[in-house]
Formats: sequence, C-alpha cells, structure tokens
Amino acid sequence: MQNIDNYSFAGKKAIVRVDFNVPLNEEGKITDDTRIRGALPTLKKVLADGGALIIMSHMGKPKGKVNAKFSLSQIVDAVSEKLGVPVQFAPDCAKAAEAAAALKAGEVLMLENLRFYPEEEGKPVGIDKADPAYEEAKKAMKASQKEFAKTLASYADCYINDAFGTAHRKHASTAVIADYFDADNKMLGYLMQKEVQAVDNVLSNIKRPFVAIMGGSKVSSKIGIIENLLGKVDKLILCGGMTYTFSKAHGGEIGDSIVEMDKLDVALGVEELAKKNGVELVLGTDCTATNGLDFGTMSVKEGAEIITCPSNAVPAGFEGVDAGVESQKAFAAAIEGAKTILWNGPAGVFECDAFTAGSRAIGEAIAKATAEGAFSLIGGGDSVACVNKFGLADQVSYISTGGGALLEAIEGKVLPGVAAIQG
Ligand code: 3PG
Repeated sequence: MQNIDNYSFAGKKAIVRVDFNVPLNEEGKITDDTRIRGALPTLKKVLADGGALIIMSHMGKPKGKVNAKFSLSQIVDAVSEKLGVPVQFAPDCAKAAEAAAALKAGEVLMLENLRFYPEEEGKPVGIDKADPAYEEAKKAMKASQKEFAKTLASYADCYINDAFGTAHRKHASTAVIADYFDADNKMLGYLMQKEVQAVDNVLSNIKRPFVAIMGGSKVSSKIGIIENLLGKVDKLILCGGMTYTFSKAHGGEIGDSIVEMDKLDVALGVEELAKKNGVELVLGTDCTATNGLDFGTMSVKEGAEIITCPSNAVPAGFEGVDAGVESQKAFAAAIEGAKTILWNGPAGVFECDAFTAGSRAIGEAIAKATAEGAFSLIGGGDSVACVNKFGLADQVSYISTGGGALLEAIEGKVLPGVAAIQG
C-alpha cells in the first residue's frame, strides 16, 4: 500500500476526497470548521511537494439533485483562507476536465458537491425498491456510478482518501474511484491515518475502566453501537433524548419529551444485556424540562417555564431538554477514574445556551479524567461542537471528524473508504 509520506507529488495532480460536510448557519457561514482543519496537513503536503490539488467533497443530502443550499461554493473562501492559497471552483464536478487539465503546480481546484449527481451514492432515484424494475435500475445505476468515478479519476495522477467522516460509505468518490488508480498511486491521507489509529487505540488497546457515553435523541439510530459497546465497556452512560424512551419503557410519565414508542422493548433489551454482561448502565434520573423551547431559534420563548423534575415524572406540556443536577453528578462520577473514554452524542439541547449543563458536565469530567491519564475519543458533530463550545477541545485526547463512520469503525465494521485503498 502506498504511503503519503513516501510519495512525491512534484509535478503531479492529486484528487483528494475530503469530508467538508461542515455545519453552516442560515447565512451560509461555517459554524464548526473541525473537518476543514483536519484535512489541511494532507492538502498542504501535496502543495509543498509541488503538486496541484483537486479537492472533492459532498455536503448534506441533496439526493442527486442540484441544490444551492448545499453548494460547496459557500466554503471556497474559508478553504482558501485556511490553505493560504486561492481556490478555484468547478461548478459541475463531472465537467471539470478542462479546469483540472489547466492546473499548474501549487494551484487548487475545488469541485462542486459530488452528491448533486445520484451516481455519487449509486442508488437508483425515483423508483421504489418494491418496483419489479428496481433491480434493473440498480444495475444501470452501478454502471453509471463506475463511469462517474472514472471521470473523477481522469482529472488526476493519484488519489488520496482523507474523508474519514464518509469512509463508511461505498460511494463513487470514496471507494469506486480507487479502482481507476494502481496501488502505487492511491493512498490514505494523514487525517484518515490518524482516525484509524485513534479507533485502534480504543479497540485493541483498551485500558480499563472503559467508559462510553452515548447521547442523542434516538435509541434506534444507536442500537447497533450500544449493543456492541455492551460487550466491551465497563460502564455505559446513556443520555440525551433517548433517556425518555427508557423512562417510558418502565411506565414513567415523560410529558412531551421525545420518545420512540416502538422501541420500548429495545430499551428494556439494552438493560437486560447490560446486566448479563456485568456493565454498569448509567441513565439520567432527573432532567431539566421546559414548556417553551423554540427549536427554530434555539431559545426559550418569553414567559416559558424551566423546571427540574425526575426523568420519569415530566409534567404534561413539558419536555426534558437536559440532564438534571443529580444526573450530571452521576455522569461525572461514572467518568471519574476511567482510563478509556468514548463520547458520542450530547446530553441535552446544548445548542440552546440554557441547556448546556448536562453536556458540559460530561465534557468537563472527560477533560479531568484525560488529565489523569485516560485516552478520550470524542466523535460525532454534536459532541465535537460541545467540546469546542465549552473550550475543552485541547483537553481531550482525540476529536474525531467522523460521526457514523466512527461508530461503524468502533462496531468493528470494515470501512469501505479504507478498504478500497488497503485492498
Ligand atoms: C457525516 O456528516 O457524518 C458525513 O459527512 C457523512 O454524511 P452522510 O451520513 O450524509 O453520508
């Protein structure tokens, strides 16, 4: 396998898949640039060697259609500023051959959102899976996906995959494209190498106690990783919106809190498995609740009430939006003394300044344990945004740019984006 360190990009064009799927505010300004900063070492190595760069990424889920809301043109200036060189923009990623051919050493071209083409994801559009013609459509799409990948590959002499955040996707630009480069001319970027190493630190080098903290609103989207972690960790903290599915499963009153009524048995199953595996499961016992959170502006409406109550006795008309003080203490106590820590998903609606306390308590406990020698890995856009918001980014061991990719890697799944290069 080729190694980026041993490769000289002098006189070459490198096409680099990055994950610049960064959060933007309503004015199109980047609110967290972790992913851009993460890719800079790779991009700078190509330029420093005397190569030319073609940067490609997706943004959001435009589902195969052009959508200005997801245009990468919005981040060209920011990338240019961080890279320290002007960045040209190709408004159609599949029609950039001329612009790519004209690139000189030290120049940079960024392609428009790859997902404006359905071929990037390779899923047939506008046809239902139940349709008898679906299989044919799928075959046809796979063939056009190859063509699309071939077109992207034709722009460059070598391919680097540095998009860890998208490494769990078997897409044209993350996996299929690798078939069009020989082994000497495709490689993982520095960020990808670092991320794979960090996962390895957690999986193969576990120092105990191992504490995982999983937050977020749904049990259903995290059940795979939760079950997997229950075979590995000593303690598992479950927080955020999924708390109320557990409360409900035990017959609690949860007011208007978020709940997955069809997953009550899943929640009980998690508790059973934890017991069976001897894992200490920590769930919030109290919460901060409100009857007036405006999710549009992420603020509390005027005149609305904010109360603290047991997580299984939320009054009608109120919804739990953060961990309460008792829960915060329990979370911090569970994290204290940990030697390996994994955090994915916030403990509350941290985007609203009134409801940051639960996530902050977790972040601070992780920072303390890290100072005392723990290896702490933080992943997923929201948890990363939390440590950044609380000024704790330099007090944890590693911040991953991956959300789904990190969780799949921790589950022990092979990531197609890595496998395409490693063979
Ligand atoms: C992410 O934000 O997790 C990555 O950019 C992947 O995005 P996706 O889930 O839309 O594939």
